Amino acid sequence: MDRIQITGGKPLNGTIPISGAKNAALPLLIASLLTADRLTLKNVPNLADVNLLVRILRNHGVDLAVDGKRTGTTMHLGETFHLTARDIVDTTAPYEMVSRMRASFWVLGPLIARMRQAKVSLPGGCAIGTRPVDLHLSGLKALGAEIDIEAGYVVAKAPKGLHGAHIDFPKVSVGATHNVLLAAALAKGETLIENAAREPEIGDVAECLVKMGVKIEGIGTSTLRIQGRDRLEGAVHTVLPDRIETGTFAMAVAATGGDVVLEGAKSAHLTNALAVLTQTGTSVEETAHGIRVHRNGGAIQPISVETEPFPGFPTDLQAQLMALLTRAGGTSVIRETIFENRFMHVQELARLGADIHLHGDTATVTGVKVLTGAPVMATDLRASVSLVIAGLMAEGTTTINRVYHLDRGFEQLEQKLSRCGADIERISSG
Ligand code: EPZ
Repeated sequence: MDRIQITGGKPLNGTIPISGAKNAALPLLIASLLTADRLTLKNVPNLADVNLLVRILRNHGVDLAVDGKRTGTTMHLGETFHLTARDIVDTTAPYEMVSRMRASFWVLGPLIARMRQAKVSLPGGCAIGTRPVDLHLSGLKALGAEIDIEAGYVVAKAPKGLHGAHIDFPKVSVGATHNVLLAAALAKGETLIENAAREPEIGDVAECLVKMGVKIEGIGTSTLRIQGRDRLEGAVHTVLPDRIETGTFAMAVAATGGDVVLEGAKSAHLTNALAVLTQTGTSVEETAHGIRVHRNGGAIQPISVETEPFPGFPTDLQAQLMALLTRAGGTSVIRETIFENRFMHVQELARLGADIHLHGDTATVTGVKVLTGAPVMATDLRASVSLVIAGLMAEGTTTINRVYHLDRGFEQLEQKLSRCGADIERISSG
């Protein structure tokens, strides 16, 4: 198993190109199931989660061609995928695959909508809480799906096809919004989704569905009105930049000091997180090329933050912010309101000397003068990258084990950081 070794204490200076968003690329790939025509996706990041989803989609019959790189283009410019689901040959998504990545459960909606039947394993994914799927199922039932749970599988049928419905989610869910939105695109009539998640990745999927011929009102708001079609067309769509990767590198610069332009990043996608960073004493400004983040000297200011659905502070940046605050000049408070068990980085950060106390959903972080490098273990995707940030701040060498978690969601992490002066390398186990 690969490890990442970091010797901390170096500031970051330069430019980091931001990749396409993992959490938009995954549902966009799944949208290919909705049409027999070709869906072309540009700026697809090269990530383990993308590769796993491609295997699942191929199993359903999706044909994939990837554009070759031309001379002069680099990995971080993303790849162009051409996906064609002319015939869906299998409507089962097996446990062996779905249990490894939660987003693959989102094939359920499109499969029922197009094929009138689906059998999809209950999901797995990062171990950050119980993560039920009741909202997905109630939404799809409202659209007319008959659903049973059999031996760990969701078995769904809609012999007469799906129909539009009024769905008012009792809780905001990114995944349930994706699943129902994708299904509603091929449902007969109008679907109204209220209390929809407003994450930019949902807007990106909705924009792609519009290109495929679906009429959608309210994109970017919590009320989506979708006019389903009985057949969708192909389209060409570019995956939006990854706001979580952007926020992660912004926190890394705040942590080490330095001056970095996050190329291609969109500040409107993370207004709240950038405001939080500013409160810590970091300068953030929008430039023609992206977002410039700089901090030169001065203490990191302690702050209080709660995670919230978009446009609030994202749970996917909570661990990274905590790593930064371990060196603040005072005590910070972080409340995690989205997932009940998303604090697995705490004990690993403590191995570097961080002073963090947990009380239920709240972490109290008292800044320390120094972190000291140590061997640590990556536990989930965002927790793992918080250890990278802590390692960049620590004196001495930090070795992060189980880095396959990082490979699920960060493209060329070591290369992007080392080009800006970080002392970071991957040690392959051969
Ligand atoms: C998406 O997960 C993201 N995954 C997560 O990112 C992200 O942390 C999360 O949204 C919140 O922003 C992808 O986009 C692939 P939810 P998802 O449904 O859709 C509860 C990462 O690191 N809930 O919005 O699974 C749930 O338990 C990943 O990239 C129900 O109660 O999250 C949680 O408390 C990790 N019933 C809350 O809603 C349901 O049916 C929000 O979860 C569904 C969810």
